[in-house]
Amino acid sequence: MPKETKTNSNQNTFPEPSSETKAHSDRLKILIQEKIKANNGKITFADYMNLALYAPGLGYYSAGLKKFGQQGDFITAPEISPIFSQCLALQCIQIMQQTQQLVLLEVGAGSGVMAIELILELEKQSQLPEQYLILELSADLRERQHQAIQTRIPHLSDRFVWLDSLPDKPFNGIIIANELLDAMPVHLLKLDSDVILERYVSMSEAGHFIWQDAAPKNNRLKKIADEIKSLHHDQAHLNDKPGTSYITEVNLQAIDWVKTIADILGSGAILLVDYGYTALEYYHPQRSMGTLMCHYQHHRHDDPFYLPGLQDITAHVNFSSIAHAATDSGLIVCGFTTQAHFLMAGGLVELTRDLNPDDVLHFSEVARQIKILTLPEEMGELFKVILLAKDKRLSLPAFQFKNFQNRL
Ligand SMILES: C[S@@+](CC[C@H](N)C(=O)[O-])C[C@H]1O[C@@H](n2cnc3c(N)ncnc32)[C@H](O)[C@@H]1O
Repeated sequence: MPKETKTNSNQNTFPEPSSETKAHSDRLKILIQEKIKANNGKITFADYMNLALYAPGLGYYSAGLKKFGQQGDFITAPEISPIFSQCLALQCIQIMQQTQQLVLLEVGAGSGVMAIELILELEKQSQLPEQYLILELSADLRERQHQAIQTRIPHLSDRFVWLDSLPDKPFNGIIIANELLDAMPVHLLKLDSDVILERYVSMSEAGHFIWQDAAPKNNRLKKIADEIKSLHHDQAHLNDKPGTSYITEVNLQAIDWVKTIADILGSGAILLVDYGYTALEYYHPQRSMGTLMCHYQHHRHDDPFYLPGLQDITAHVNFSSIAHAATDSGLIVCGFTTQAHFLMAGGLVELTRDLNPDDVLHFSEVARQIKILTLPEEMGELFKVILLAKDKRLSLPAFQFKNFQNRL
């Protein structure tokens, strides 16, 4: 995700898609236009984002484009360095020891690289799980994960099982996910001093997608909008600009996902890594344009209508909403910290202790990777890790440097 060119939406400078990929985007555009027409002229932004990312065979994640890494649109932590997944593996061992659960479930496994590096570290530590389950929404990525695992770790491939949906309850095990929640469709709100509006997606006569703001129909969304307004009221001294609209996102799907996980989890834990903030930071009056972001070939911009299907669309995660959904559903929040603190306390030092500084090329490459993962201006501070557990409070070394859960 980091290391992109900030382009201020100047799409003229973006690489041109090939005629084939452009035709692909046009097919998705037609599908979305049809949904808008069938829905009396507008759909929620969450519905738009869902189609743009996950429409079968056409959406950004569902279709066959390369998304991760240097040739894709963005880079995630497991793609940057195996150390990230190795640290996660060390924390999974701690969870396995405290919960006696030996099954892992990774949700939204991307290219499969985290699964590979994580299980290799578990093997090295003689702590192989009985099974490594993967739940992946995208059929294309599922196939890529399968191939990567067959190619890189054929001797461990029989431990992997791909699920079509979340497991039946009770599921006893450890659920992990990196950058899953930020890829879930969000609703957009536009708050003025006296009105609450939802941002819908409509169509101009020429067929271009355009915004249409109208009262939200969803009661949960209305309630959350009221809560955001009261947060602003409490912080009114921070932003006194009457008449300015405040645009923000609400991720109802992430809240529902946590509630479902809480329901199916018999015993075990959930470890989630993503970029985001606590509610106070997320809905800070000064963050008046929200956090919605698009990634197209390492260019970051804010136009979700640009080439649907060819670009990623994401929003930062409101970790307070995740924590509250978890506790409301009977989970225990055991830790919340930054990625830098998590990695530093969670084994990064031990994992790099045997590096040979005389091997200058390798040493400097690992140093570069660690900087990206941990420096505050890179991924270190924006990315957070939250640990949720069922039945009993868990204590992991990775949360012992700093645990910020009282801020949630
Ligand atoms: C931003 S990518 C992150 C991929 C990978 N975890 C990484 O860190 O490189 C989001 C992933 O989550 C998947 N995904 C999104 N929503 C999902 C859901 N509800 N269930 C399973 N997978 C989902 C996407 O298809 C994609 O693989």
